[in-house]
Amino acid sequence: MYVYDSYDQQIVDQRVVQFKEQTERYLAGQLAAEEFLPLRLQNGLYVQRHAPMLRIAVPYGLMTATQLRKTADVSRRFDKGYVHFTTRQNIQMNWPALEDVPEILAELASVQMHAIQTSGNCIRNTTTDQFAGVVPDEVEDPRPWCEIIRQWSTLHPEFAFLPRKFKIAVNASQSEDRAAIRFHDIGLQMVKNDQDEVGFKVYVGGGLGRTPLAGQEINSFLAKQDLITYLESILRVYNVHGRRDNKYKARIKILVKAMGVDKFSALVDKEWQQIRQGSNQLTDAEIARVKTFFTGIHYETLADQTEALATQRFESAAFDKWMARNVDAHKQPGYAAVTLSLKRVGYPPGDATAEQLELMADLAEQYSQGELRVSHQQNIIFSDVKQSELFALWQTLDANGLAEPTVGTLNDVICCPGGDYCALANAKSIPVAESIQEHFSDLDYLFDLGDLDLNISGCMNACGHHHIGHIGVLGVDKKGEEFYQVSLGGDSGVGAQVGKILGPSFSAEEMPTVIQKIIDVYIAAREPEEPFISVVNRLGLAPFKERVYAKAN
Ligand code: HEM
Ligand code: SF4
Repeated sequence: MYVYDSYDQQIVDQRVVQFKEQTERYLAGQLAAEEFLPLRLQNGLYVQRHAPMLRIAVPYGLMTATQLRKTADVSRRFDKGYVHFTTRQNIQMNWPALEDVPEILAELASVQMHAIQTSGNCIRNTTTDQFAGVVPDEVEDPRPWCEIIRQWSTLHPEFAFLPRKFKIAVNASQSEDRAAIRFHDIGLQMVKNDQDEVGFKVYVGGGLGRTPLAGQEINSFLAKQDLITYLESILRVYNVHGRRDNKYKARIKILVKAMGVDKFSALVDKEWQQIRQGSNQLTDAEIARVKTFFTGIHYETLADQTEALATQRFESAAFDKWMARNVDAHKQPGYAAVTLSLKRVGYPPGDATAEQLELMADLAEQYSQGELRVSHQQNIIFSDVKQSELFALWQTLDANGLAEPTVGTLNDVICCPGGDYCALANAKSIPVAESIQEHFSDLDYLFDLGDLDLNISGCMNACGHHHIGHIGVLGVDKKGEEFYQVSLGGDSGVGAQVGKILGPSFSAEEMPTVIQKIIDVYIAAREPEEPFISVVNRLGLAPFKERVYAKAN
């Protein structure tokens, strides 16, 4: 885990003081709302339906138990005692009072946390695979590269006022993309070339929102030392040519689409030739320095516990289910990566109470060397659990509502806060998630359905990534009433694609039945072991449409 040096701490502390003064001037009427707006956005503060919303950065989703405890403490003292984990691995508080935010930031700074660049038109938190560093099929641990990007992009003066926000994601697994890189402004896939050298395949111009687009490849192999100069060249071309006259056309995806990827790439190359050999070219020493921060986890020499686990699984059906869905392989023998589910039926997806945060902090220290991760799917990961301790960990998680064995299934819903919290919403999203989860509460049935991503957004800003759910649900407003549009076939992984709209939208009450009909078509059509997404790709939308919109006779 990266630990601040004195410069980092000073920057964060100074920002706390600066923002305190800005807030005080705003509250005293010395700063107009529009003057305060860019200042608060640069510090993660949105003005919302009921209260300001504060987004706290979790660099590439990695946290310590101490940071989680502080988050619990802050949520209890300044909010309603719970927080929300987001699809970009950050934390959101939905009820802070504006005058308390400077104090919240000061508290967070004491454990090396902040909200800098979590909103506004700047480079946001770089995200990555929640299993980074422990995945058996990884090219290399991507987190030092995320950290290098973080250090370069934090408070970078040239990129503080981009045409629009800018998001970067890095993936290093060779078989899966858990970071949705093709749906980021820049997506970086770590790869090896013919000489076995590690570098990056670079995608640009992906994003969701109003115009959902998968990023396009502009470089098939970027050498490691060139990472920052190349990113800088992309950002420069965007900064100069991106539209500032229309916020709906300002993202880099619109520029790349309008210009064409070849022309865009030629401009990037031209810029790159000027700066490639400059001071931002990465040296081996610098890369090695950053890597040292990610060597803090110490593994014992252990053997895989295959037989003992098989016995435990045989003896407890509930443990068996949890093992099947919530426990992933680890590159180190005798260890496993565990996903703690924040998707309990009846609770907003991605929410955790202060008590749960504290419990997770204690358990992370007891079972996973004091570190944890936030996933793009809004769950928590203990990445380094000894296989011999899985059963004991499961028992405690189960007793505290954190062992819902549904990771990766239909009930592991990704969902935005929607109309319950968000001023921009067309419709509520959390109650729809809940009604679907309740409808599909039979675990055996869910297991039989296998991997299935359901994503829900309350408006086309797409915070719940509805375009790239295998089933996507979007809240729409029809003459002041809340309706839901369904799309099928979206894919956030290596098969990156945007889902297609099924047809006219539905009321909230109809949604569980609509999803059931879609599932019925899948069950009837699937080959043995064939996943949902593959059936949709194979058959197209027609049979689903037919079933869902069939007239009752
Ligand atoms: C209630 C507070 C929230 C507000 C006001 C809000 C606002 C917005 C807006 C305006 C956009 C569109 C920006 C654009 O198109 O450039 C956006 C995008 C996004 N939001 Fe939120 N959001 C909120 C909560 C969340 C939450 C809780 C999550 C995670 C679950 C989230 C994840 C995202 C993501 C991933 C995008 C980017 C989609 C894309 O690729 O274009 N947001 N948000
Ligand atoms: S998708 Fe829309 S409703 Fe949902 S949080 Fe984002 S802006 Fe709000």
